[in-house]
Amino acid sequence: MLDTQNAPAAVPALIRREEYRPPDWLVPEIALDFDLDAARTRVTARLMVTRNGVHDRPLRLDGDGLTPRAVRVNGVATTDWTLEAGVLVLPINGATAEVETEVEIAPETNTQLMGLYASGGLLCTQCEAEGFRRITFFPDRPDVLSRYRVKMAADKTLYPVLLGNGDLTGSGDLSGGRHWAEWTDPFPKPSYLFALVAGQLFANRDTFTTKSGKLVDLAIWVAEADLPKTHHAMDALKASMKWDEDVYGREYDLGQFNIVAVADFNFGAMENKSLNIFNSRYILADPDTATDMDYDAVAGVVAHEYFHNWSGNRVTCRDWFQLSLKEGFTVFRDQCFSADQGSAAVKRIEDVRVLRAAQFPEDAGPLAHPIRPDSYIEISNFYTATIYNKGAEIIRMLHTILGAEDFRKGCDLYFDRHDGTAATCEDFVRAMENASGRDLAQFRLWYGQAGTPRITAKISGETLILEQTLPETPGQTDKQPMLIPLRLALFDRATGGHAGEQLVLLDKARMELPLPSGGGRPVLSINRDFSAPIIVETDRTAEDLAFLSAHDDDPFGRYEAMQQLMLDTLVGAARDGAADHTAVVTAVGQTLANNALDPAFIGEAVLLPSEAFIGDQMAQIDPEAIHRAREALRRDLATRLAGQWEAAYHAHAAPRFHYTPEAKGARRLRNVALGYLAAAQADHAGALAFRQFEAADNMTDRLAALGTLANGDAVERPAALQAFYARYQDNPLVIDKWFSAQALSSRADTGAAVAALRDHPDFTLHNPNRVRALAGAFSMNQLHFHAADGGGYRFLADILLALDPINPQTAAKLLPPLGRWRRVDPARQALMRAELERILAAPGLSKDVFEQASKSLA
Ligand code: PHE
Ligand code: ZN
Repeated sequence: MLDTQNAPAAVPALIRREEYRPPDWLVPEIALDFDLDAARTRVTARLMVTRNGVHDRPLRLDGDGLTPRAVRVNGVATTDWTLEAGVLVLPINGATAEVETEVEIAPETNTQLMGLYASGGLLCTQCEAEGFRRITFFPDRPDVLSRYRVKMAADKTLYPVLLGNGDLTGSGDLSGGRHWAEWTDPFPKPSYLFALVAGQLFANRDTFTTKSGKLVDLAIWVAEADLPKTHHAMDALKASMKWDEDVYGREYDLGQFNIVAVADFNFGAMENKSLNIFNSRYILADPDTATDMDYDAVAGVVAHEYFHNWSGNRVTCRDWFQLSLKEGFTVFRDQCFSADQGSAAVKRIEDVRVLRAAQFPEDAGPLAHPIRPDSYIEISNFYTATIYNKGAEIIRMLHTILGAEDFRKGCDLYFDRHDGTAATCEDFVRAMENASGRDLAQFRLWYGQAGTPRITAKISGETLILEQTLPETPGQTDKQPMLIPLRLALFDRATGGHAGEQLVLLDKARMELPLPSGGGRPVLSINRDFSAPIIVETDRTAEDLAFLSAHDDDPFGRYEAMQQLMLDTLVGAARDGAADHTAVVTAVGQTLANNALDPAFIGEAVLLPSEAFIGDQMAQIDPEAIHRAREALRRDLATRLAGQWEAAYHAHAAPRFHYTPEAKGARRLRNVALGYLAAAQADHAGALAFRQFEAADNMTDRLAALGTLANGDAVERPAALQAFYARYQDNPLVIDKWFSAQALSSRADTGAAVAALRDHPDFTLHNPNRVRALAGAFSMNQLHFHAADGGGYRFLADILLALDPINPQTAAKLLPPLGRWRRVDPARQALMRAELERILAAPGLSKDVFEQASKSLA
């Protein structure tokens, strides 16, 4: 129940998927005229509207914070309109009309970063999901597709570059030092894909020739000083364009493709038609400032936004409940792209780690929702790990069930059928069904049922017994069994091999599979390559897991066996205060010694599960016990395998930075080894880490050393933090790392340190990256976020409340960790709930935060 006593004056309305109705009016054409200025921008919009169907309802144009300065219908000024909660309501006679409105907006005071806003010296836009209504009056819903012609005028010195969607169709000088440009986009698009950018930008230019021989001009626009940091993004863009042709047969469809990097951005990036706008952290990369992880993220996000040109733009979403139609599919596409660029095994491990860290807790908490939600208060709250990452797993399962060939046929059919329209998740599944001839009725349950399925797999005599259950989630109690594709193999202990992998489609609550007779009890490798986004419980012994960690030919299965072995040990230790580490030490030692394995893989496999993931396995999270158990195992691994860590550390040293998969893998393993060396004996390791910190010729090694030092008590710690700050104080993206390294520390003084960092002159609530670097990172520090005195909860709630009036979207995204109160002891529960109550009671709370806080208390 919502606590209506504390709710905002009017409880914000719930929007329901069932209530979808086609738009009353369509807008086939729009001409926009921007007179740009940071303080006062005049926007004139001319809409060609047509009545959709037979009805006599007025035209309703969404607006948010807009006041019409003029309204004209068919060229005639009118006052026959009303404003209803921001919406401009206008009676129209006849089936079509030309409607013109004029408004004024103030980009420089737009702190929400939705609509037209200023970032650095730039003017830029963000319209998804509902930002266009902050720019002009318009039916701001994704099923209204229009052809856009956009004219903009601005001061030529402040804004020498003027960019829009589509093609440049005119430009020239104006009096008073101003100039203008006109952009025309031939592809009809929903308003959320509109974009413009104006500013002092410099381009890294390149070209791409499509498979049918069309030349595309590519440009990545940044501040002049950042140009050298755009090459990796450009390489990724060209590789993505080629990959989408090779793997999906999809070609780019315009003569130019522009990317702009901005410093202040609520999300990662935005796929506006031919004018992608990026959070600069996903464009800028060079060895001195970006880690290998950053490089991967840049390539992944560049690919993601590029792939949206088909999965999102050419075929868009009918309504926001269908968001996973474009996001889940596009994440799956970018994951496969990245897998193809380097180690597919390591990429899969990373993707599963993200899913487990971000999505499983969501599915298990008060904000759980299906990948196609049934209702929302504020759509911005639904850009979640469930929609994106679980959504990608649903598409991956279709790929697994249908096979690559039929999956591709299904995609072709989907793009063919729905090109130029706004589609639904159902349209996608139907295309898959029609192309493959398979019945996907039961598979559709993945779209509607929230929660992570739990599978148990047990071998009893000569039978494999599989059972599935789906936990209750808010609003969903009675769940149906899902269709779960399980890749599995049965290993022969004696030979170390298996007779072939099978794909089992578990479609009932319980299933029994006969095992081949004779040959003794096999070792079960199940959910190989993480074939379904589920939790698997087996009756495998430590010995079975050790066997798989050494023999499974599925790299994910091998990694998973090691993780399970570690988890079993750690959960036992957190519960009982101690555990026998022998099995883990042996398995890690063997993995380190296995020269046949890719070092990048070894680096992943020998890492202990995070404290948060250990907590997720326990009925109740005990942050201190988990930390102690994990540290004890880490120290034991460090000391008992000290020689092997030393050897790995030195064997993988590189004289000079290279950006290749092999060099990345070596850095990964070396830095994991550094972490263990530091765990063994702090003194020696402090000096070692500090040497690496100072000598590093790349950010991966420097930051790994800084992280190791920031986490401990070595005497070198203050000097390293100081030197890092001094070296990078002019680079906000690197200073974000400096904030995060301290916020993630397990040192006892971390609570006090983050409080002090909030008062640091470089901390600002106006830059979402900076807020996430401090408060977001701290909320993932399980040990200190859950400090017994509630100081961690209070810190997060304080920042959230200070941010809400400035940027409600980013504020709301800080909230979910406070909603996980059911997972801790009663004393902490009371402290967490008290912070949620305090948030809900704040006057003038945004509906973004209201939705998250009220649902979290329910
Ligand atoms: N559609 C963007 C993406 O997935 C994400 C985004 C959503 C960006 C909302 C900005 C605002 O790439
Ligand atoms: Zn996306």
